[in-house]
Amino acid sequence: MSGDQASRLRAMAQGQRQDSPLFAARVVAITSGKGGVGKTNVVAGLALSLAKLGQRVVVMDADFGLANLDILLGLSPKFTLEHVLRGEKVMEEILLEGPLGIRIIPASSGIQELTRLDTMSELRLVQGLQRVAETADWLLIDTAAGIHDSVIKLLMAAQEVILVTTPEPTSLVDAYAMVKVLHLREATKPLWLLINNGQNPDEAQETIDQLQAATERFLGKQLQVLGMIPNDPHLLQAVRQQHSVADLFPHSPSSRAFSALARQLLGQVSLQPDGFASFWRQLASEDPT
Ligand SMILES: Nc1ncnc2c1ncn2[C@@H]1O[C@H](COP(=O)(O)OP(=O)(O)O)[C@@H](O)[C@H]1O
Ligand SMILES: [Mg+2]
Repeated sequence: MSGDQASRLRAMAQGQRQDSPLFAARVVAITSGKGGVGKTNVVAGLALSLAKLGQRVVVMDADFGLANLDILLGLSPKFTLEHVLRGEKVMEEILLEGPLGIRIIPASSGIQELTRLDTMSELRLVQGLQRVAETADWLLIDTAAGIHDSVIKLLMAAQEVILVTTPEPTSLVDAYAMVKVLHLREATKPLWLLINNGQNPDEAQETIDQLQAATERFLGKQLQVLGMIPNDPHLLQAVRQQHSVADLFPHSPSSRAFSALARQLLGQVSLQPDGFASFWRQLASEDPT
């Protein structure tokens, strides 16, 4: 993005603050070093558990390579973010209503990265998201996996980042790489760690200990542990039926874990005045660090 574009967006984000409510959605990005670790399932599970606690949740599918949040929730979008970016639809027209009133912003695979949009597309996106954020308590973003620039930029701009890993060594190595990249950009940015798909609590704890030990030793960085979601066959069963596990099997081990996770987030992540505007200012700036 050019400096000119960036300053226009910054000015806009600031201008919008005047007629925006003091509080807008907490922006939480969910990411992973490696694909296939259960990120999209975590986003869906968390969204539904927060909704069960009475929270207004909007989920944005920002994994443009592998957009599949809608499929996971059994929804079939007619229009996607692409239509908004092209100016053919406004955000409200593409929003899908999911279970328990959660709203989903569907992505379409293969569209341009969010941080490399032309000015008009970016303005449409910013304005649409701003309106949505005003009527939500949480904006959860399902990002692509990996340490690409556009993903990192999105993560730096978000209020909170949840890093998902499984106990698998390859996932763990890639999670460490992600922590390192984020740490080098902004050492003080807190990072939540979530272990998914562990066979038992001991295995999950071992994963936490290993990653913590490495980040503390080599980066001097403490990770905040959000929790663990166990390996749960109900999850696969739910996915096959195109439903979220929290919806279909509310008492399954993974559903219980998602529920605990939602409670923890609700208790620990406060609504920040200016949180959403700050998200956009950062996203629009040339270098967020
Ligand atoms: N806790 C879990 N228990 C059992 N299967 C899981 C669990 N988490 C994820 N999976 C399965 O792993 C696969 C990848 O999950 P997905 O959410 O699509 O990953 P990502 O979004 O990280 O690529 C899916 O088949 C999903 O059903
Ligand atoms: Mg995914």
